[in-house]
Amino acid sequence: MQALGRVTLLTTSFNISLISSISIYRLFFHRLHPFPGPFACKLTRFYSAFLAAKNIQYNVELKKLHEQYGNFVRTALPLIYGPHTECRKSTWYGHLDVDHTKICMALSRDFNDHRRRRRAWDRAFSIKLIALSVYEPRVIAQAKKLIAQIEANQGKPLDATTWSMLFTFDIMGDVGFGKDFGNLTMGKAHPAINAVRDHMRFIAIASHLPWLLNMLGKLPGAAAGYQGFFKWCTDQVESKRKVSSPPYSSAGLTQQSWDHEKYPQDIVSWILKAFIDNDVSAPPSEPALHDDSRVVVIAGSDTTASALANTIYFLAKHPQVLRKLQTQLDSAMPNGPQSWTYDRTKPISYIDDIIHESLRLRPPVSSSGYRVTSSKGLQIDEVFIPGDVNVFVPPQLIQTDERYYKFSKQFIPERWGEKKVEWGTDKAPYFPFSLGVYGCVGKNLAMLSLRVAVSTLAQRYDIRFAPGETGEACVSAEEVVVTRLFLNISQVCYFWMWTCESSS
Ligand code: HEM
Repeated sequence: MQALGRVTLLTTSFNISLISSISIYRLFFHRLHPFPGPFACKLTRFYSAFLAAKNIQYNVELKKLHEQYGNFVRTALPLIYGPHTECRKSTWYGHLDVDHTKICMALSRDFNDHRRRRRAWDRAFSIKLIALSVYEPRVIAQAKKLIAQIEANQGKPLDATTWSMLFTFDIMGDVGFGKDFGNLTMGKAHPAINAVRDHMRFIAIASHLPWLLNMLGKLPGAAAGYQGFFKWCTDQVESKRKVSSPPYSSAGLTQQSWDHEKYPQDIVSWILKAFIDNDVSAPPSEPALHDDSRVVVIAGSDTTASALANTIYFLAKHPQVLRKLQTQLDSAMPNGPQSWTYDRTKPISYIDDIIHESLRLRPPVSSSGYRVTSSKGLQIDEVFIPGDVNVFVPPQLIQTDERYYKFSKQFIPERWGEKKVEWGTDKAPYFPFSLGVYGCVGKNLAMLSLRVAVSTLAQRYDIRFAPGETGEACVSAEEVVVTRLFLNISQVCYFWMWTCESSS
């Protein structure tokens, strides 16, 4: 008993001394201690996780911190994210596995590995594929299904957030895998998708402690909730492989799922082709291949859904913007919705202005893009950030900063059009898709999906808040959805949309 008491005393004093010395070091001697910030934040990363857990609104908490502690970053954007930056993906990206050969390209922290693998993705997202009638008709087909559902529910309030989500997940099923999730047809989410969304909230908090998430992920059954989604993606990859043939027979495959003349018709097939061809851009292992396939859905769906829901919210909130857009759509297509074609919408730059303004005010990935400085450190104006330090520029804060944008909190799409030069918009920082080598590979596909959805909806309908709906929940963004990959606090706002035939 006495021995036990001694051991307890020894362990307790050891732990107290250890924790005290770590705390004293972090508070007073750490190389970052001159940087202002909350006391608790200097002591432990659990504080960041705590902030992230508050309403899952890390971007809002960050805003408060900046208001309290100020900021020093003035020229940081190109230095941290620009094409010639020496900053790399931070420890945040190691939250699944630190071994880059086992994880998706998007989480790879090895610069050369990422650069090699990114080439296969760039091929899958080339403008040629997006524009040359490969992905475009499929996005349009999904938009038609969305319209059919709205027609069937005419006069009833519609949950704009859910329908945006069903639309974009279906696009990623089709363009990503050549498979239909069937969300829009069924009017509800495929079970595999629900599992993903259920787990996003937890990941958003826990990814602030990458080491913890890493450990938890190794526990048996930890990813049980994801299993339906994992299985769906794995089954799709495997069925694509089964139908491949020479020159793929060396991989034990029998029949060809794409020919070299035609090329793959979906994103995952491009990555699989690189894998089977042993191309330098291929995922380096089976687990990496499968993780890549999952990222297609995770990175592509929720982000675009948030962007669409937010844009619809702004159109409902600003009827004069909707009317202006409708007038332009009507003069480009005087025969009404039957004459809608994507080509006819292309000259209407106001569609893009609306989307950019929505992405400026509410970037779906509002707190992601953690980078680590090179071992030399980084000089930003008069401030030196030491080497191997995690840095981050929050897009929403910068994009709504009065120093760069006139009437910065207001929704004014004209700042991207006729006011562009006068208001200096082209010189203002804007990076909803991030920038540089790690910038969003799916940007063109996302823009295509948004343009198609916004133009078809606006041409057909007057969009108003449903009775009793103010859209305030959207402003405070109480409801959020977060994706695994990007610490994505995707500001999906729940509001009910009221649609009726456009009166213009
Ligand atoms: C409006 C919609 C979208 C937004 C706002 C968005 C935003 C972003 C941002 C900010 C990043 C950088 C994240 C980081 O630094 O960690 C990123 C990366 C990425 N996005 Fe998107 N994204 C969108 C749509 C898509 C789509 C449709 C896809 C298609 C699969 C996609 C796939 C990816 C991938 C794979 C990466 C990782 C790129 C890399 O590490 O090289 N995104 N996206």
